[in-house]
Amino acid sequence: MVIGLERIKGVFITGTDTGVGKTVVSAALAWTLKSAGIRVAVMKPIQTGTESIDFTDIEFVQKVLGSGYALDRVCPYRFSLPLAPLVAASLVGEKVDINRIKSAFYELSKSFDTVIVEGAGGLVVPITEDYFMSDLAFDLNLPVIVVTRPSLGTLNHTFLTVEFARSRGLDVLGVVISNFPADPGLAERTNPEIILKMTGKEILGVLPHDPDICVEEGRIGRIRETACSSFVSKLGGSFNVEAFIKSLNAQQLKKI
Ligand SMILES: Nc1ncnc2c1ncn2[C@@H]1O[C@H](COP(=O)(O)OP(=O)(O)OP(=O)(O)O)[C@@H](O)[C@H]1O
Ligand SMILES: [Mg+2]
Repeated sequence: MVIGLERIKGVFITGTDTGVGKTVVSAALAWTLKSAGIRVAVMKPIQTGTESIDFTDIEFVQKVLGSGYALDRVCPYRFSLPLAPLVAASLVGEKVDINRIKSAFYELSKSFDTVIVEGAGGLVVPITEDYFMSDLAFDLNLPVIVVTRPSLGTLNHTFLTVEFARSRGLDVLGVVISNFPADPGLAERTNPEIILKMTGKEILGVLPHDPDICVEEGRIGRIRETACSSFVSKLGGSFNVEAFIKSLNAQQLKKI
């Protein structure tokens, strides 16, 4: 699909929650696609919480990619308070205009093969009183990748997110497990296989924990070095899900 992403114009990166690793996954995926020769842009339609961070999500991504675009082109709405877009906007007397986001997306689509759009929080985050992140993914006509944590609690969150996406008519391409520890505990060792079975969706990648990555401080760690081996071949990488699950099962047996 390096591939399909060109044909489908892009992908909407959502997550099971805020802080699950959507930005790290967006940056790693963009780097992987760029390395495969695809002209890729990353867009974050609405960034909140700018008052408490040194780097916005889009600035982190642009540091990884080594290329920058005018912030208004890729991040049309920025709010200082760390709140859901509806609330962050209304507290400063503003309302997000979805058409402005759509125009920015269509403009980018003209200049790039594919556009990765990072949502804020999860799918049921309100942008206006009657418009959610899921509506934006739907209106942009983008398939969705669900970024999820590897740890305890993720089965519930992942299944809920995938089911909600389905109920809103979204095409879920698959799940990416983010921030996977080098020494996984019982939950992390067993969750990937159950995520596959419960959701019926592909695991499209697993990103390893990297202690030198910090989005908010603009530290990119070894993300460029590990990106390509973290995604499956249809996303331009070399990650092998079967071998990964086999190795987790082997570790699991050793620990019993
Ligand atoms: N693979 C990783 N290795 C180390 N730290 C990570 C990794 N993935 C995410 N983190 C850290 O976890 C935090 C949350 O990650 P990230 O900003 O990507 O989440 P998010 O889902 O984009 O959050 P938001 O909803 O605020 O956009 C950040 O501090 C980031 O640096
Ligand atoms: Mg983010």
